[in-house]
Amino acid sequence: MRANPAAAGFSLYACARLMARSVRYPLESAALALLLGVWTATAPAQGDAKRGEYLVRAGGCLGCHTGEKEDAVPFAGGRALKTPFGTFFGPNITPHPQAGIGRWSEADFVRAMRHGARPDGANYFPAFPYPSFTKISDGDLRDLWAYLRTLPPSSQPSREHDLWFFFGWRFLVTVWKWFFFTPGPFVNPQGVSAIVNRGAYLVQALGHCGECHTPRNFLGGPKRGRFLAGGKLPDGEDVSNLTPAQLKKWSDSELADFLTIGTTPDGDVPSESMGEVIRNTTSQLTPQDLAALIAYLRSLPPLPDEK
Ligand code: HEC
Ligand code: HEC
Repeated sequence: MRANPAAAGFSLYACARLMARSVRYPLESAALALLLGVWTATAPAQGDAKRGEYLVRAGGCLGCHTGEKEDAVPFAGGRALKTPFGTFFGPNITPHPQAGIGRWSEADFVRAMRHGARPDGANYFPAFPYPSFTKISDGDLRDLWAYLRTLPPSSQPSREHDLWFFFGWRFLVTVWKWFFFTPGPFVNPQGVSAIVNRGAYLVQALGHCGECHTPRNFLGGPKRGRFLAGGKLPDGEDVSNLTPAQLKKWSDSELADFLTIGTTPDGDVPSESMGEVIRNTTSQLTPQDLAALIAYLRSLPPLPDEK
């Protein structure tokens, strides 16, 4: 758009008039300014579904929210997630009013992702990786929501979780949250390059890499001071140390190959769980985001494997 000198001149004039008036009517002007402020803050800022589609990939939502069968409806739930506390089933997150989250408001969605709470206030189990997703920015949450709204609604009902005895009590999660959950969006640390910050955001918030790569204590909480240092998954599977103590064995391009085509420098293929992360998530990242993710892993403090 070309600047229109006449319009600009008029705006200047209007501005000057307003300033002159505000001297005469300070209260009224303040009220007007306040109203304008409230209006801009509450104006419905529509999320961008196209961006949301990319973020859904970066967040790996598809895997946990889609059944294992070939013909499973994407995001209609049914995927079994085995944990030491029992089996969780990813629920239907399509906009179906009964079976899915069609009746939800955007605020309900934000509360689920940021605070791990259902619309009725009950806790979600941390098998839903909200301890990582809480770090997703407001803008990205809005875009994720906009994309989920575009999915075809599926009437497939969500399955009840199959949990051991009292582990099924949602209120116990309150205690878990006291110990292990800090809600709030990712804050860029000072003195870190923009690319490393972007990578940190992708790894810690959307990519939730720590959900598998950070070892857990017996309560299922991440071990402090062992962030991304690897160990064992609940089913006993070894999970790699992502800090430079181990990853220095691979060059950046070897790491990029692993995270996009899923081959190691010696021609191995990863286990099924990491294979799915590569398929659904890391191979879908833009080259810039992949480079940022790698730059961040390189910047981590090296933590030797635990003996
Ligand atoms: C590691 C598996 C996993 C991943 C990845 C995952 N979810 Fe979930 N999600 C779950 C489980 C399990 C639940 C149910 C938790 C419960 O019932 O307490 C859940 C619940 C939800 C709910 C609440 C649904 C309801 O009916 O109450 C929403 C919304 C949701 N997830 C959205 C997402 C989005 C968006 C992403 C990607 C950014 C995502 N999830 C990624 C496992 C996952
Ligand atoms: C569902 C669990 C899970 C999640 C989530 C996960 N990983 Fe993994 N990852 C694994 C397992 C298990 C292995 C070990 C694979 C093997 O030995 O074949 C692994 C291996 C790796 C390796 C190979 C390291 C080596 O030294 O061999 C890299 C790199 C890696 N993951 C990066 C990531 C990144 C980056 C993320 C987040 C975007 C991520 N992973 C998320 C389970 C996971």
